[in-house]
Amino acid sequence: MKIRVINNCDGVDFSEVVEILKKVGMRYHAPEVQEKTFRNSACTIFLFDEDTLVGFGRAISDGAIQAAVYDVAIDPSYQGKGLGRIIIEEIREELSGYNLILYASPGKEDFYRKNGFSKMLTGMAFFQDAEAKREKGFIE
Ligand SMILES: CC(C)(COP(=O)(O)OP(=O)(O)OC[C@H]1O[C@@H](n2cnc3c(N)ncnc32)[C@H](O)[C@@H]1OP(=O)(O)O)[C@@H](O)C(=O)NCCC(=O)NCCS
Repeated sequence: MKIRVINNCDGVDFSEVVEILKKVGMRYHAPEVQEKTFRNSACTIFLFDEDTLVGFGRAISDGAIQAAVYDVAIDPSYQGKGLGRIIIEEIREELSGYNLILYASPGKEDFYRKNGFSKMLTGMAFFQDAEAKREKGFIE
């Protein structure tokens, strides 16, 4: 394994991003929509093993104080090797000094706890797909 960390979208095939999101069971969109979300983010991290995309994450921000992390995913065959941690460390470094919030996939909270995050007690969300989010255990 020879991991390269890339912090821009150059050379990324967004159909591969979609494939990884599908494999890990996360919400995905058409490649061009997915590309738009990454290109409009303040921080994008992609991990490659040689030339193979194996993971990514991104954060949006107000450019001064607040940021939110989305789409952290590692290809299943590369999970448990410290790559998720690298993505969070890279985002924290690039957005050093910002408050970071996120909502974890149900069951993944401890991954974020181990990476310095705390559970929010008053988090509220207005989701367009609220019913689906409720079924998946994101909201009450
Ligand atoms: C969650 C995910 C990003 C973690 O990435 P990873 O590369 O497998 O995790 P790492 O190997 O970097 O693990 C870092 C630490 O977190 C722990 N950890 C990883 N996944 C965990 C989980 N689901 N629950 C609790 N702890 C977890 C590891 O044991 C490790 O702890 P250690 O330092 O004490 O050994 C990855 O498993 C994934 O893509 N899952 C599917 C998609 C997903 O749910 N993404 C999160 C969306 S909110």
